[in-house]
Amino acid sequence: MKKLMIASIPGDGVGKEVVPEAERVLKAVSELHGGMEFQFSSFPWSCEYYLEHGTMMPENGLEQLKGFDSIFLGAVGNQNLVPDHVSLWGLLINIRREFEQVINVRPAKVLKGLTSPLVNPKDFDLLVVRENSEGEYSSIGGRIHQGEDEIAIQNAVFSRRGIERAMRYAFELAKSRRGHVTSATKSNGIVYSMPFWDEVFDEVSKEYPSIHTDSQHIDALAAFFVTRPEHFDVIVASNLFGDILTDVGAAIMGSIGVAPAANINLNGKYPSMFEPVHGSAPDIIGKGIANPIGQIWTAKMLLDHHGETELGEHLLQSIEHVTSKGIVTPDIGGKHSTTEVTNEIIKTLQNIK
Ligand code: NAI
Ligand code: MG
Repeated sequence: MKKLMIASIPGDGVGKEVVPEAERVLKAVSELHGGMEFQFSSFPWSCEYYLEHGTMMPENGLEQLKGFDSIFLGAVGNQNLVPDHVSLWGLLINIRREFEQVINVRPAKVLKGLTSPLVNPKDFDLLVVRENSEGEYSSIGGRIHQGEDEIAIQNAVFSRRGIERAMRYAFELAKSRRGHVTSATKSNGIVYSMPFWDEVFDEVSKEYPSIHTDSQHIDALAAFFVTRPEHFDVIVASNLFGDILTDVGAAIMGSIGVAPAANINLNGKYPSMFEPVHGSAPDIIGKGIANPIGQIWTAKMLLDHHGETELGEHLLQSIEHVTSKGIVTPDIGGKHSTTEVTNEIIKTLQNIK
């Protein structure tokens, strides 16, 4: 029996509503499969925890998480209680950085039954691989002088190691998909880091002769996500470019409530972390209408990560079966509750074996 130990951090707002639902789904998956079991340990780290303890997680929080197979997180943030930069850096970003989760993966595809804001979304099915540890999001730089003389300098950090591992990850994923990798660049305007990025892309491409490649400037690429998303398979991007592209990806799917994500540790020293793209959705807390699909699709990514790709596929098919029947929450035009959607997905899992 394969047993996966999962650290579950529901966090704030609707995170607390969708994480238990996705756990129910994972339990149903394991019961169907027989050969595997999930053991969830829940951690109450959140803004409420901060009010009581003065920190988002205990001092030995990372130590407590270290031994788990994966981390399953909901959302972090409640501006009424704690400023966002304190809550996000104190928990989410802390885990991403300290656990060397150097790759962020976010799929975007047309789910049957969902209305995309695109008039003709075709059948796009793409995956953004975002470098998650360096690039434009560095803490190197500073500010000097005041008033009219004030200056801010923010350095971007690009290492060969960091670029290569993100690109290799993208190429490996493309092998089991449609065999196409697009690099997001801007070497016409950013004259040191992006030509370097392009060179490394050329080098890594040579290791994968069977994969078709192209390179697009980020501004054009963002526009192509709107005008012809079906053209793309796997896209590899720096931290900032990937951040922007994945929000466009979530938008063209029809709701941020369905978009999943994974933060991947590659060296095996620490667990990876799975979390949906959306935040704590303060405007709908407690109404029972949070879309559980983002969290449940995130659970599919967790299954894939642990080698259970067949089960992952089965889960995604069940999700699509339910969306195609119109059993969905109000954010995507339905009138069903979080629990009704989850129940239907569990029922479908059992029926379409
Ligand atoms: P948000 O993603 O929480 O909400 C944006 C809009 O999408 C809202 O109208 C919300 O109702 C809707 N929405 C989000 N998730 C939904 C779901 N599952 N079902 C139905 N509708 C959903 O982003 P916002 O409002 O900018 O941030 C709220 C808080 O969440 C802030 O404190 C922010 O810092 C935090 N945040 C945390 C993230 C994380 O933990 N990874 C990511 C984004 C924001
Ligand atoms: Mg973002």
